[in-house]
Amino acid sequence: MSSGLEIPDDEKGYDLDLFCIPKHYENDLERVFIPHGLIMDRTERLARDIMHDMGEHHIVALCVLKGGYKFFADLLDYIKALNRNSDKSVPLTVDFIRLKSYSNDESTNSVKVIGGDELSALSGKNVLIVEDIVETGKTMQTLLSILNGYNPKMVKVVSLLVKRTPRSSGYRPDYTGFEIPDKFVVGYALDYNEYFRDLSHICVMNEHGKQKYKI
Ligand code: IMP
Repeated sequence: MSSGLEIPDDEKGYDLDLFCIPKHYENDLERVFIPHGLIMDRTERLARDIMHDMGEHHIVALCVLKGGYKFFADLLDYIKALNRNSDKSVPLTVDFIRLKSYSNDESTNSVKVIGGDELSALSGKNVLIVEDIVETGKTMQTLLSILNGYNPKMVKVVSLLVKRTPRSSGYRPDYTGFEIPDKFVVGYALDYNEYFRDLSHICVMNEHGKQKYKI
């Protein structure tokens, strides 16, 4: 279990003008925090680490929608490339679950399961949960306790981001892409009230963006 690529608290990120940002978000963002290329490079290595540990048996990759969908798709592409290019390969099947725990930029105490396939299919399987971000850890702990009720053979969790926050329950995923400071981030499928999923880089919003998309 590694803490991933640690981004320090005083990391300033990058000026928006150095990257391509969709016009409709130009006035809503403060800085680029993790450029898309760096996300991809780190994801490639996560795929290798996961296959090293789980690559003996059929893997059921479980995507936590909606925020996990970009990371899920890119991670699986790298795992598929490893399967194509090495002496051993394992079948990979996919499944999807939808949870909701956020209102504006505040984590709420209740985690709601608002979708998902027939979870009994996970019984006896090696499951890889693919999540976008762990903040307090409550969402993942809730999901793990739901899944354990279906008796999977093994469950591992990979999260692209883990937030360093005093609100953490202490939960840590098995694999972490980046450990980030206690900031609300958007982009690469992470949203603020459904906006900013269509942004390639992980960015920090400005006050204008927060007000504009507040509900
Ligand atoms: P937790 O239960 O507090 O760990 O929250 C995890 C969930 O909150 C994630 O799956 C995200 O949906 C959401 N979340 C937490 N922090 C952020 C953020 O900085 N940006 C966007 N969504 C976030």
